[in-house]
Amino acid sequence: MKDAAPQTIYLKDYTPFGWQVEDVYLTFRLAPNATRVIARIHFAPNPDAPTQDFFLHGNALTLIRASIDGQPVTPELTDAGLTCAVPSGPFLWEAEVEIDPASNTALEGLYMSGGMYCTQCEAEGFRKITYYPDRPDVMATFTVRIESDMPVMLSNGNPRTAGDGFAEWHDPWRKPAYLFALVAGDLRNHPDSFTTRSGTKVDLNIWVRPGDEGKCAFGMQALKASMKWDEDVYGREYDLDVFNIVAVDDFNMGAMENKGLNIFNSSCVLASPETSTDANFERIEAIIAHEYFHNWTGNRITCRDWFQLCLKEGLTVYRDSQFTSDMRGPEVKRISDVIDLRARQFPEDQGPLSHPVRPESFQEINNFYTATVYEKGAEVIGMLKRLVGDEAYAAALDLYFDRHDGDAATIEDWLKVFEDVTGRDLSQFKRWYSQSGTPHLSVTEDWSDGTFTLHFEQHTPPTPGQDEKAPQVLPIAVGLLGPNGNEVQNTTILEMTEGKQSFEFTGLSARPVASILRGFSAPVVLRRESSAEERAFLLAHDSDPFCRWEASEALARACLIAMITEGATPDTAWLDGLARLLRDDTLDPAYRALMLGLPTEADLARSLHEAGVTPDPDAIFDAVETLRLFMAERWADLLPKLAEEARVSAPFDPGAAQAGQRALGNRVLSLQSRIDGGAAAQAQFAAADNMTMQLSALASLNRAGTAEDALKAFHDQWQDDRLVMDKWFGLQIAAAAPAEAVARASALTRHEKFDWKNPNRFRAVFGALIGNHAGFHQADGAGYALLADWLITLDDKNPQTTARMCSAFQTWKRYDAGRQEKMRAALERIAAKPNLSGDTNEMVSRILS
Ligand code: TRP
Ligand code: ZN
Repeated sequence: MKDAAPQTIYLKDYTPFGWQVEDVYLTFRLAPNATRVIARIHFAPNPDAPTQDFFLHGNALTLIRASIDGQPVTPELTDAGLTCAVPSGPFLWEAEVEIDPASNTALEGLYMSGGMYCTQCEAEGFRKITYYPDRPDVMATFTVRIESDMPVMLSNGNPRTAGDGFAEWHDPWRKPAYLFALVAGDLRNHPDSFTTRSGTKVDLNIWVRPGDEGKCAFGMQALKASMKWDEDVYGREYDLDVFNIVAVDDFNMGAMENKGLNIFNSSCVLASPETSTDANFERIEAIIAHEYFHNWTGNRITCRDWFQLCLKEGLTVYRDSQFTSDMRGPEVKRISDVIDLRARQFPEDQGPLSHPVRPESFQEINNFYTATVYEKGAEVIGMLKRLVGDEAYAAALDLYFDRHDGDAATIEDWLKVFEDVTGRDLSQFKRWYSQSGTPHLSVTEDWSDGTFTLHFEQHTPPTPGQDEKAPQVLPIAVGLLGPNGNEVQNTTILEMTEGKQSFEFTGLSARPVASILRGFSAPVVLRRESSAEERAFLLAHDSDPFCRWEASEALARACLIAMITEGATPDTAWLDGLARLLRDDTLDPAYRALMLGLPTEADLARSLHEAGVTPDPDAIFDAVETLRLFMAERWADLLPKLAEEARVSAPFDPGAAQAGQRALGNRVLSLQSRIDGGAAAQAQFAAADNMTMQLSALASLNRAGTAEDALKAFHDQWQDDRLVMDKWFGLQIAAAAPAEAVARASALTRHEKFDWKNPNRFRAVFGALIGNHAGFHQADGAGYALLADWLITLDDKNPQTTARMCSAFQTWKRYDAGRQEKMRAALERIAAKPNLSGDTNEMVSRILS
């Protein structure tokens, strides 16, 4: 157990810091085990703050000396920082500290990765670099001098002077400490430039380790496209002379938006056709955009405190999803986002970790970089836009940028710009930020005398700390189809504000079929007593691409649940309807690829649990496999035709068109390999000239149990490429038969290339194990025990990544008593670890409570 009692921080306790920081001068004398950091900071009393003691955060720092206005002082050191008597007016604070980047395995603060120095300061890592008021509402300009023998030395802002053994940087924009960054190493540059619409030329650089130069071109294109898009769509220009991106191999998350110096997990920026899948390309493009867009939504306008995290993250995710829609097509992006929301956010919101988009308390803020804050936070903005309309949204955003540029803002500030632009009262809408849990929306219908009525009822089940739920504002996009499939009512937004509410459509000549929650207009669980015929009708005719996909998804889900619970045979009416759609070659291959997808096993477990049935992971696995085999056999004539359509003959291009074709082709391959003994996959593996084709073939072979030679060949080809080796590790576990997954994962942890301190490699193995639903939930609990063993090992080195991966256990109460007991035992074993980190302790206690 953790010895120090965990401290909980509350939103309601917010108080401004007693001083303003005018400017910060930092000198770094870099050395792996003994880096000196000299800080000179001008403080002045903050007239808007209550009287308080002068306190600076500090963590794992060795204080060498401190002075105020040139006079040495002896501050009182505490667990969390220092306090000191200070003058009543403005003063200059100086402190020299020593830190040990080479021993920093938590990857927070200043650390080393593959011989280079780099930093990660969000959320509270700057306090591991020097004593400072490490909170986002304290903003200052920074000047940084780096002294080292590294050939490349970077920090935020614009370069000033550089010479033998030093470089100086100045960032003219006031910023909170979490946006500070420093990088020094032997790096190679992929340079380019971008001229803003007002004519400023900006130097762009992507900095990588020697050998990775050839994997930068795609990221650079994505950066330039993002810069242009933010000018065109949001009217936002870049504001420094240079924009640097650095790729780092050891990184806890995807990437970080440090002002002018974005730092990326190398997996989220390095790309080449031979080593990256289409999914990698799409993700890299989106993350580059995300971090770039933070320059305005996050950096120029930051958060007052960490409870407001969704202010920057929800909005920036929303913006990057708009960007991807524009780059790659809105239909496929929307459906993919909904699949992702259901896979990651719904389980969180429906279990012990459920929390509001704007949490009201936390122990460790790192544990709140969640799908709820990010993805549900983005959904909330999408609803707001739907409610006020595109024009009002644009006007509200202009006002937001105008009014709050340079501020550390709140959700109240954000909603107020919408209220001021539209005159609407958003107090009920604000519940989306404070109420946790996924609303359930049920709908029934009536028909009489040309009037069609939809009766809605919303209900949100209780979540931890919130027993009573109030009705939320739900924008429900609805369209009506006539008996011949034509639309008799175009998409209209019904604005539901009450617990129960009915909406009438009059003057209809025949009973329509309703298409409800078009575009997934609100993040709810829709409960609709709908006949299979009605769903089939929507699958055939709905003009809304999301609802058309959703009709098939609902039929697939119903079919699988009937197979699992009643031993039913596959629903041929649905499959034949789906086949008609798949044959339609006017439909985008990417869309048809999505249509060929089935609900994931974990998502089926969630549906079963919602329906009051205890999910049996093996039965779910068997049903999905049976259905896939059935599809492969029933479509023996259709699949070759689709494979033909999906064949790409042009040179590789990572854009949406080719990626869509490959997605379709690889779905088809996965089905075909169930009936051809892996012949097609073998041929594809041999012929592949890009990673998408190679890896899909390998996955199909592995599933068919005939991958031994291919796995070896793949290993030999790619053993020196870290990112591809992550795929090699992951695939063998993700695509393993459930009974073999734990054993494979365990064997791979003994492989010489299993570097468990590298988060990408750790996640490659254990993320894949967690993703193999029936494998992870193996009835004897071996999967739980293996994960617990390794989380206990990792916690000493890297609490952040350990804590995040504990969420694998968040669904434990869904399962049978035997599995529950074994998951509880695994969690209790983690909880009992001596010196457990605060990060992991908070996660385990919340999951167990
Ligand atoms: N702000 C980053 C983003 O969303 C997230 C991030 C990167 C982060 N590194 C982190 C959050 C470390 C917490 C800890 O783009
Ligand atoms: Zn972000």
